[in-house]
Amino acid sequence: SEFKIIAIDGGAAVGKSSTSKGLAERLDLMHVDTGAHYRTITFALLATGASPEDDLQDTLAALDLKTHLDRRTARLCIDGRVPTEVEIRSPEVNASVSKFAAIPAVRQSLFEYQRNQANVGREEGFRGLIMEGRDIGSIIFPDAQHRFFLEADEATRAARRAKEGQTDSIADRDKMDKARKTAPLVCPEGAIRVDTGPRSLEEVIEHIINLIGTGN
Ligand code: C5P
Repeated sequence: SEFKIIAIDGGAAVGKSSTSKGLAERLDLMHVDTGAHYRTITFALLATGASPEDDLQDTLAALDLKTHLDRRTARLCIDGRVPTEVEIRSPEVNASVSKFAAIPAVRQSLFEYQRNQANVGREEGFRGLIMEGRDIGSIIFPDAQHRFFLEADEATRAARRAKEGQTDSIADRDKMDKARKTAPLVCPEGAIRVDTGPRSLEEVIEHIINLIGTGN
């Protein structure tokens, strides 16, 4: 049977990660967080002393990208190591991830890797995957069976990021992610918009499952 791909895009603090993780559990699918990919590459580049102004072509070409499956969560393993959550969510990574993510060579180095996650999922025996990010429904899997764009009002997002202790850089990152030339954050054409503001996490998950339909 067909391998199912569900794309979840949206800005920071709209509830993408909790929704994607919850959906992956409910639907028994592999979960791929591409924000974590950009954070992991940023962490690895910062560790080499690189800055976003450098010519990164050779450094990027030398990186060995593999996938480490943690139950249903696929993590990016660079040069034999999966950085910890603390490492990829540090203030340093928060402050520069959107700068690195705006560089075409950086996005190019992840493009094939991310497309190939469908093969990884298949080989691992999953029926499909949920991939979350900023350009999944627009660039990585424009042909996905289901594409959603999550949104929330500013007050809800502010409350969520305060709760996560993540008050730095989010508005700046959104601004940069929307303004960049390569793969900007947009609602992909034909994607279904989901307002997470007035809904609890469980309600968002239920709503999306209803939109996907039964028999899935
Ligand atoms: O999702 P998260 O907030 O962890 O993503 C961190 C950053 O990675 C985003 O602000 C964005 O700059 C970048 N990103 C991206 N494309 C994706 C996912 C994340 O450019 N598909």
